Amino acid sequence: MEQKQPTAGNHKFPNIARWLFLIFGFPIALPWLAYDLLDIMWQKQKKKGLKNKVVMITGASSGLGEALAHVFYKCGCKLILTSRREEELMRVRNDLISTHQIVQAYPPIILSLDLTKIKDIKAEVLKTLSVYDGIDILINNAGISYRGAVISTDIDIDIKVMMSNYFSQIYLTKIILPLMIKQNSGHIVGVSSVQGRIAIPYRSAYAASKYSVQAWYDSARAELCDKNIKFTIVNPGYIKTHLSMNALTGNGQVYGKMDETIANGYEPEYVAERILEAVLKQKEEVTIAPFSVKCAIIIRTLFPSLFFWLMQNRARKLAKSQ
Ligand SMILES: NC(=O)c1ccc[n+]([C@@H]2O[C@H](COP(=O)([O-])OP(=O)(O)OC[C@H]3O[C@@H](n4cnc5c(N)ncnc54)[C@H](OP(=O)(O)O)[C@@H]3O)[C@@H](O)[C@H]2O)c1
Repeated sequence: MEQKQPTAGNHKFPNIARWLFLIFGFPIALPWLAYDLLDIMWQKQKKKGLKNKVVMITGASSGLGEALAHVFYKCGCKLILTSRREEELMRVRNDLISTHQIVQAYPPIILSLDLTKIKDIKAEVLKTLSVYDGIDILINNAGISYRGAVISTDIDIDIKVMMSNYFSQIYLTKIILPLMIKQNSGHIVGVSSVQGRIAIPYRSAYAASKYSVQAWYDSARAELCDKNIKFTIVNPGYIKTHLSMNALTGNGQVYGKMDETIANGYEPEYVAERILEAVLKQKEEVTIAPFSVKCAIIIRTLFPSLFFWLMQNRARKLAKSQ
């Protein structure tokens, strides 16, 4: 069969596109590319500076905390991993050592703690930190979620969620801050949520606890800026973890379901890498969420009435579907 030969006319459009790209696209893309390359090199260099830094990660037995343990261990940090389930922490510790055999790092220390028992934790934490004679980075990651209606949620559940996500987090920080102030350096990272910026229906206790964390960090950051203590607040969108499985309901039972939103969320490893980047860049706040969620945060700030109307519609829809 005779093949159709390309003519000059056939090529007109691709030629124009190529020229347009060369004239406009290339000069715009080139500086971006150069910036990205420089950024990668800069981060590589900065990661080297993390070697032998003492990093405590709460909620390290699963999900995001476990991914954070891998990311910081790979940088050669001396890790202290905490959560309630000691056997899960042991699993994470063994996994770190066997997965990253070429990394020259101290074996992670495990500290089994229920952070909500705030009267019991101070002595345990200080004893563990004395092994390394200080701490450089604290990552307050432990937390629980909640599913329920305002009207039928027992106040004990509100208190429990607030205790897990807010009071225990700020109390641990208060235990550690004097050590950081003494050494004139330190970095506190708080894992909040986009729900600490926009509260959605049927998440009242969770959103309230995450809003509180944000507010506390903003005050502390300002107060301690002259002591060389950095504060980073992280607002992730949905992450593929067991958060909804472990969530509390209004009557105190465990929710026990994997929400579709969470199952389709970010990989914990991706979020952990972004948190490492935020630490390296000493960012005050980082939101790791899709564009639509970032738009919702902007709408909440600039057009609150519109946001309230959207949430009312969402609440009505959810109420009907239940
Ligand atoms: N998954 C998401 O979609 C999402 C989105 C935004 C923000 N976040 C935040 O990310 C953080 C990590 O959650 P995740 O998604 O990784 O869920 P996860 O897999 O359920 O992890 C929660 C961690 O917190 C620990 N923990 C809970 N209560 C504790 C307590 N009283 N004392 C000590 N440790 C406790 C758990 O360990 P033990 O059970 O062993 O104690 C576990 O390691 C949370 O703060 C969460 O709010 C998650």
